[in-house]
Amino acid sequence: MSKLFSPATLRGLTLRNRTVVAPMCQYSAQDGFANDWHFVHLGRFGIGGFGLVILEATGVVPEGRISYGDLGLWKDEQIAPLARIVDFLHGQGAAVGIQLAHAGRKASTPVPWRNGFDETEAEKAALHFESWTPVAPSAEIHAEGKNFTKPEALDEAGIRNVIDSFVAAAIRANQAGFDTVEIHAAHGYLLNQFLSPLANKRTDRYGGSRENRMRLVLEVAEAVRAVWPVDKPLLVRLSVSDWHPDGWQVEDSVALARELKARGVDAIDASSGGFDGASIPAGPEYQVPFATAIRRDAGLPTIAVGLLGDVHRAEQIVADGEADFIALARGALDNPNWPLHARHELGETDYDLWPKQTNRVRERDRSLGRRGFAAS
Ligand SMILES: Cc1cc2nc3c(=O)[nH]c(=O)nc-3n(C[C@H](O)[C@H](O)[C@H](O)COP(=O)(O)O)c2cc1C
Repeated sequence: MSKLFSPATLRGLTLRNRTVVAPMCQYSAQDGFANDWHFVHLGRFGIGGFGLVILEATGVVPEGRISYGDLGLWKDEQIAPLARIVDFLHGQGAAVGIQLAHAGRKASTPVPWRNGFDETEAEKAALHFESWTPVAPSAEIHAEGKNFTKPEALDEAGIRNVIDSFVAAAIRANQAGFDTVEIHAAHGYLLNQFLSPLANKRTDRYGGSRENRMRLVLEVAEAVRAVWPVDKPLLVRLSVSDWHPDGWQVEDSVALARELKARGVDAIDASSGGFDGASIPAGPEYQVPFATAIRRDAGLPTIAVGLLGDVHRAEQIVADGEADFIALARGALDNPNWPLHARHELGETDYDLWPKQTNRVRERDRSLGRRGFAAS
């Protein structure tokens, strides 16, 4: 029996297997509302057999969106189209999470496939275009000459509003039926900006020492946990390393993960990077050691992510305890049926992960003598 395709339980949630779709911004929402693009894009991952599908970075406040096209959960009206997606994925046997996010000084950037803010007036009206001055721990721009805006530093009232907004969005996520929430504290966005000395130059209780820089993330986690149902797991995505000599390091993440665990966080989604000037040796499995370090040294389950997709290695990573879950982003876009195929590649002859509407694939495979019908 494959470990990758064995069920896993976090609190009261049992996932049908350990494959995860990592959050992926689609830049396709209007005023934060999910639409048919999101329904189809996400729905196919449930059809494809993934255990957990995590929705994209979703702004807890409008000014916390990376672009005007991000999903949002800052008002009750945004719940219904998300609930439709959740219901469909549940119907396919997948669990569903949503990444709650604030982009901080990396907010209000152009949609990546456009040439900067090149929208015509007609497109601006049709796409619900918005741009704004972002907020951050300190009034320092993310990077010059790259479509970022100099932010305003948050005061204590602004910080309180960030915490309250994560809480309100988590309550709405529960109303939408999500099984889990992932707090986005990675990739150089707001919570990561507070953690990292590369962006946090504050001199108050939210800056300076590591303990102070961790304060906001811990306050958000604690406040969200207090309203998130006890039987539902809470995830946090970390940039385990900034890949920068002056930045946040693996040992900082281990210390943080221990504190998060003490506050009821159930797993860490182990990513990395997000600050300008980082030197990232991207290659197959390059972030797996981060998942392993957190799992081993902080004693929390971890999601490995980043250039994964080799089926046998994915199985081995989970079987050997390097990580508990395998997440794909681009690999899932490339092949939304990755779990269905991977399971056969690991020797499974059963077709029970395939939706019943697809059972003629089984007939074809029998005729071709492949997958479950391959001669052994
Ligand atoms: C189109 C796209 C959008 C992404 N959006 C998000 C996001 O909303 N939140 C996030 O934490 N990571 C985001 N990521 C990063 C992925 O979740 C993932 O960590 C990264 O792509 C590495 O995994 P991969 O090699 O399987 O693609 C995005 C990646 C892609 C390709």
